[in-house]
Formats: sequence, structure tokens, C-alpha cells
Amino acid sequence: MTKIDVLFGLQWVDEVKGKIVDVLTPRYDVVARFQGGPNAGHTLEFNGTKHVLHIIPSGIFHQEKINLIGNGVLIEPRIFRQEIEALAEKGVDAVKNLYISKKAHLILPSHRMMDATNEQAKGNSKIGSTLKGIGPAYTDKIARTGIRVGDIMAPDFIERYGQLKRQHLTMARAMGFDVDAFRIDGMELGEYEKVWLESLATLKRFRFVNSEYFINQCLREDKKVLAEGAQAMMLDIDFGTYPFVTSSNTITAGVCTGLGVAPSAIGKVMGITKAYCTRVGAGPFPTELFDETGKRLCELGHEYGATTGRPRRCGWIDLTALRYACMVNGVTELYVTKPDVMNDFDTVNMCTAYDIDGRQTDEIPFEYNTARITPLLTPFEGWKQSLQGITRYGDLPEKLRLYLAAIEQQTGVDIAAVSISPDRKDVVFKQ
Ligand code: GDP
Ligand code: IMO
Ligand code: MG
Repeated sequence: MTKIDVLFGLQWVDEVKGKIVDVLTPRYDVVARFQGGPNAGHTLEFNGTKHVLHIIPSGIFHQEKINLIGNGVLIEPRIFRQEIEALAEKGVDAVKNLYISKKAHLILPSHRMMDATNEQAKGNSKIGSTLKGIGPAYTDKIARTGIRVGDIMAPDFIERYGQLKRQHLTMARAMGFDVDAFRIDGMELGEYEKVWLESLATLKRFRFVNSEYFINQCLREDKKVLAEGAQAMMLDIDFGTYPFVTSSNTITAGVCTGLGVAPSAIGKVMGITKAYCTRVGAGPFPTELFDETGKRLCELGHEYGATTGRPRRCGWIDLTALRYACMVNGVTELYVTKPDVMNDFDTVNMCTAYDIDGRQTDEIPFEYNTARITPLLTPFEGWKQSLQGITRYGDLPEKLRLYLAAIEQQTGVDIAAVSISPDRKDVVFKQ
């Protein structure tokens, strides 16, 4: 029996997970998403075109490989349909190689309305949700009131749908939300519901499977499986910067619950980090830069959300947070991305510890949201050189290699590869 490898984000999202999964897919037989939903935006770029995936695994462009949406994922049928149509325009017929867990939960239009309701109710302490309905859909899953993909086929599906929708409407109105003024993509709720229900026909064209049996059978047959994370460690519902998090377990442990595999079946744990750091939405970010350097990182790194288009907050790499991520997840190898964004920097800083009210620590405090944290920065000389065309690790500029070696030394984890441009071909493997 072979083991399942995991690839996931170590920071606050958008670490280039999608691209690295796409690059690694030729080494695997199956690529499986285990959590999250359309809040994710995973960008792939090859042959001069760019593609953003939200619910569909990033192995989909390799048509001889199986892609699986696991039980831990949330599916919004209309967004799913849009993704399928966008793939079809690029000549990819996903019906052939995309399987969906019957146990994956559905995001209803009214879940999206509840997301907006909850954000409105939070006033000044908004999370900055992507408003795709993630929190409310996972809430219904835990409350045992959710509706799953397999339920679409049940004779009482519409009845259950209506019942859940009515619950949401009652809640939203009780919370003072203006239901009539609410729009999704310019459509009022009833209108969007129609499109949503029509989109179920697209979903039904796919193979619904008991994915826990499917995946374990693959492992028994020594097929190679790669689990693709969405969001990232620091947005994990348990270990992230609560309440400024997403509503799923984004960590390695999420693979077990989101796909139905045993902890002992986990193989490589591949963690991705940018060479700097970004965050979208609200919440603590100790190394955030509010100056010109922050703006430069945003502009040069094109740091705008793949799902929402919002500018991402930018700052230096945070080794305190990274060590925490490595500890909780048992990371066995690192992927470092986007150092090219800092090619022109005279100095590149790395946060190696925090100062909290005069006390130095390398732990993430419980009071992360309120503590007055000053990041303790170690400066590195910039490499001041383009990385274009580099294919061998040894050919990376020496000053960049020193910076990368410091990341390895600080985390105790070896780097497997470095990504140096958005394109699929620009990943420099160390071995
Ligand atoms: P994900 O959510 O982790 O899959 O990451 P996103 O797709 O949201 O964001 C990553 C962004 O960085 C995308 O716009 C990619 O095209 C871009 N990108 C990927 N790798 C590199 C790289 O090595 N260098 C640069 N400059 N951009 C990259
Ligand atoms: P990928 O997989 C960027 C952020 C939102 C918000 C918080 C909660 O592309 O890295 P949610 O919609 O989950 O209720 O939002 O999490 N967020 C993301 N930001 N990329 C993502 O996914 C995100 N998924 C969630 O901005 O702060
Ligand atoms: Mg993203």
C-alpha cells in the first residue's frame, strides 16, 4: 500500500499551491482536494495562458490523471458549472477524469446570503470573507443540517433544499439583513436560485463516488495520490488566527477527515511558502509592511486576489509563523515561491522571532490578535539579479541561496524546489 502525499500552504494563503500541484501532477495518478471550496483561487499558467481554478483540483489539465473532489470540500454548483465551461473553452473535458465525493457538502445560494449577513453583523470586526458561503455551509455541516452532493439524487431533495433555505431566510431577517436588496453577481436571490438549480444538471454529469473507498483502493493498488490543500495553515479553523480564519482544517490532518485516509497513510508533507508573505482580508500579520516596500511587493508580485481581485497585504517572510506551521503539520519538504519579486531589492528581511512588550519569543501567542508584536528582522543582502532562465539550483544567485539556506536552517526542513516565475516551466528543483 502506497502513501498519500500532501501539498498545502504554510502562510496566509496564495503561496502558489495551484501551480506547484500542476507541476507535480505528472508524478502522480490522482490529485485530490480535501477541504475548502470556491473561496480558493489557484492560478496555473502555461503556453502563455492563465487559468484560475476554485473548486476543481489543479491536476485537471493533465487529462490522463484522475482528479477527485473529496468529502471535505464544499461545492457551489453554479461556480462549478462556470469552471467546467471555462475548462471546456480550453479544450478540457473534465467529465472524463473528475470524480466527486457523494459526501461533499453543497453551498446553497442562501449560504452565500448568510455569509453576507454574518459579515454585516460583525460591523467593524469583519473577517473579510470571500462571501462564497463557506462559513455558513460548514456551519450547517457541523449542525447536521447540510445537504450533500449525493442528496441531489434523493426524491426529497427539493423539499430539503426549501427547508434549509427557509431557515436561512428566517435567520437573516432576524439579524436585520435586507434580503430583498441582496444580490449574487447582480441577481436577486430568487433569480440566482434558478440558475443554481439549473447548474445541478452539470454536476450530475460527473461520477459521484464513495471517495473514501475510491482513494483507499487507489492506495492499495499502489497508485500515487497527491492531496491539494486550499487556503493555508494560518487560516486553519483550529490553529490559525481565529476568528480571522476560514472554516475548515487546512492542515495535514484535514487530509484524513477530508478524504477518509488514515494518519498512517500520509507520506510526504510538502509545505509551500512565498519568499515573502501576503494576506487577504482582516487579521494579524506581524511582518506586514505599510510603506513603499509593501507597495512594491504588491505591485511586482501582482498581489491581487485570484478570487476577489482585492489587493493582498504584503510583508516579510515570518519564520516564527513558518516554524509553527512546520511543527503542527510535520512538514517534510519546503517549496519556496516568488523570490523573483525581490530581484531588485537592496535588502531582504526575514522575521526570526517576535518581541511582545519587551519579551522575545518564537511562539505564536494565544493573544495574537491583540498583542503588540514587533517582528525581529534579520537583514539579507539582495541578490540584485534576474532569475530568468535558471534551471539548476546551483545556478541561483549565491545571495539568494544564502537566504534560502537560512529558511532551511530556521525551519529544520529542506527545500525541494523554488518557483521563479508564474509559468509552469519555471520551477527549479534542488535535486
Ligand atoms: P494559490 O492560491 O496558492 O494557488 O496561489 P494564487 O494562484 O492565488 O496566487 C499565486 C500568484 O502568483 C498567481 O498569480 C501566479 O501566477 C503567481 N506566481 C506563481 N509562481 C510565481 C513565481 O514563482 N513568481 C512570480 N512572480 N509569480 C508567481
Ligand atoms: P487560496 O486557496 C485568499 C480568506 C478570506 C478571508 C478569510 C475567510 O487561493 O489560497 P472565507 O471565504 O473562507 O470565509 O474567508 O480567508 N481566504 C482566502 N484568501 N485565498 C484563498 O484561498 C482564501 N480562502 C479564504 O480573504 O480573509
Ligand atoms: Mg489563491
